[in-house]
Amino acid sequence: MGNAGDGGRFVVLEGGESVGKSTQAAWLATRRGADLTFEPGGTRLGQELRRLLLGEAGVRLDVYSEALLMAADRAQHVAESIRPALEAGRDVVCDRYIGSSLAYQGYGRGLDVDTVRLLSEVATGGLWPDLVILLDMDPQRARERGGGGLDRFEALGMDFHARVRAGYLELAAADPERWVVVDADRPPAQVRDDIAAVVAGRLGWS
Ligand code: TYD
Repeated sequence: MGNAGDGGRFVVLEGGESVGKSTQAAWLATRRGADLTFEPGGTRLGQELRRLLLGEAGVRLDVYSEALLMAADRAQHVAESIRPALEAGRDVVCDRYIGSSLAYQGYGRGLDVDTVRLLSEVATGGLWPDLVILLDMDPQRARERGGGGLDRFEALGMDFHARVRAGYLELAAADPERWVVVDADRPPAQVRDDIAAVVAGRLGWS
């Protein structure tokens, strides 16, 4: 199910760690005058869940708990923020969404991808983005350019991040109507130009 009709358009940026997603999402939202938001943590409840999910609270999480908390974050985010904005006719740019759960909890952690998808279907009432832009980059290269402290996910090994990357590429290949892959291993201005061309071509955003 998509977000057809008179409402705003819903665009998501996806990708591994330190690929420049947040910068590009902020740029796109500003350029379009769209609402900018992110997961996990885009709501009050989400901020609490994010602390648990990123390990800041020091609480051990089972992989299913992790998947369910990501879905809970998403349910609240859609209900409180994304759906009302779209229904009011505002465009929304979101830094991570369902694709992150499929790639990280599914391909990365090894949970059944269809089960993870079902959790998000239930959580969101079937709200899928109009467009998903995947910023693709070798995770080792991304880590070298990343720097700074490592959260619970960033601290996982390269084998995990390689599975996440491969999973993302598989998701994009399986649904080319919705997903576009952009090579993120280039200067930010070039990545930005590609994103501008994609949203112009797919959504008519100038
Ligand atoms: P985020 O702070 O956006 O990290 P980054 O700045 O690297 O994009 O996201 C936090 C982490 O949460 C990130 O490692 C990916 C992970 N994540 C999941 O595992 N599943 C999900 O559904 C979401 C939304 C994020």
